[in-house]
Amino acid sequence: MNILSIETSCDETGVAIIKAHGSLETRDVSFLVRGNALYSQAAKHAPYGGVYPNLAKREHSENLIPLLTEALRGAELLHPQTPSPIVEQSQLEDILTREPALYEQLCVFLEKHTRPDIDAIAVTVGPGLEPALWVGINLARALSLAWNMPVVAVNHMEGHILTSLLQETEKDTYTMKSLTLPALALLISGGHTEFVLMQEWLSYKKVGQTRDDAVGEAFDKTARLLGLPYPGGPEISRLAAQARAEGIADQIKLPRPMLDSDDLDMSFSGLKTAVRRIVEEKGEITEHDRLAIARAFEDAVADVFVHKTRAALTTHGVSDLIVGGGVAANTYITAELESLLTREFPRATLHVCKPIHATDNALMIAIAGYLRAHAEHYTDPTTLHAQGNLFLT
Ligand code: KG4
Ligand code: ZN
Repeated sequence: MNILSIETSCDETGVAIIKAHGSLETRDVSFLVRGNALYSQAAKHAPYGGVYPNLAKREHSENLIPLLTEALRGAELLHPQTPSPIVEQSQLEDILTREPALYEQLCVFLEKHTRPDIDAIAVTVGPGLEPALWVGINLARALSLAWNMPVVAVNHMEGHILTSLLQETEKDTYTMKSLTLPALALLISGGHTEFVLMQEWLSYKKVGQTRDDAVGEAFDKTARLLGLPYPGGPEISRLAAQARAEGIADQIKLPRPMLDSDDLDMSFSGLKTAVRRIVEEKGEITEHDRLAIARAFEDAVADVFVHKTRAALTTHGVSDLIVGGGVAANTYITAELESLLTREFPRATLHVCKPIHATDNALMIAIAGYLRAHAEHYTDPTTLHAQGNLFLT
């Protein structure tokens, strides 16, 4: 199957195309990445210090067609035709009334290109920012109508989980790692921080979560307090690595909230508050302070994950740990989890993806989309809607 995927849940606009075959049951699933176009709006949101939903929506509307074109071209599926009238034009206009820029560009695109050889369209329906999600969903509905293709609704978090299980066999070709089920997933992103038990393939149960901020949010807010640009995760991580290399380890003590609670819940808002207090007490922070605080922050976060993961692995007796989401691009955190496993759970395996696949992209949606399509989990395009708080089930 050729799958076309669309991701617009936050501030990354992505369109990907994969050719996939095989199934999880027969363990012969394989994915060829044919096109993977991504545009990050981060620089546009930076002046606001975080994602501004209406700006994200506008940016998605403006960038989806160029990305669709790029992905199809990469996949060698972009075939020009003599401009021909679009049959469903008024229906497309209805679907895209709220995205006039997208509608205009889509019409030009459809007039000029033939229907590509795609079997299904996978689109993120949640969780995420609803105004942003709607743009991708409406494009999926429009393409489904124009090209007469089925649609698969994808949960963004399932995309993160499955991407962490990819194993590259040759350039752009991946297979899915095998797992002993149930497996445990630690999902760490800008909007989520949770432990999820994967009981069967594509079946999940949440077993722990943050009670306040998501860890990515804590990275971003702390970065802001330190005068670092959005997104703050990579910035803090860079400074923390520099501090370690330079041997900077000040007497800064940051809390490790809920370390001894007897559940798998976490809390990250206290960390940011503690950093705010330090910054206020110092009045003005030096470059040295910034390095020391970044390190103390990353150390505290990694410590919380190590403790909670130890508890989770013990409680649930699982031997496969999947770490996914944008914060999984943090190699210090994943290295700390790896050494926890080596030291205390030598039979367990850690599954993480390349940092480039950890942050939002459309490839992850294509992977989940294929596996859902293979299981015949199609959705009637007319019933698709954005679900900001969609859970994994
Ligand atoms: O999964 P993601 O791309 O978007 C959401 O679904 O939320 O995650 C984005 C989050 C941001 O908060 C960003 O600061 C954080 O991931 N992040 C990192 C790193 N790279 C991205 N946090 C820590 N270290 C990193 N290297
Ligand atoms: Zn994400």
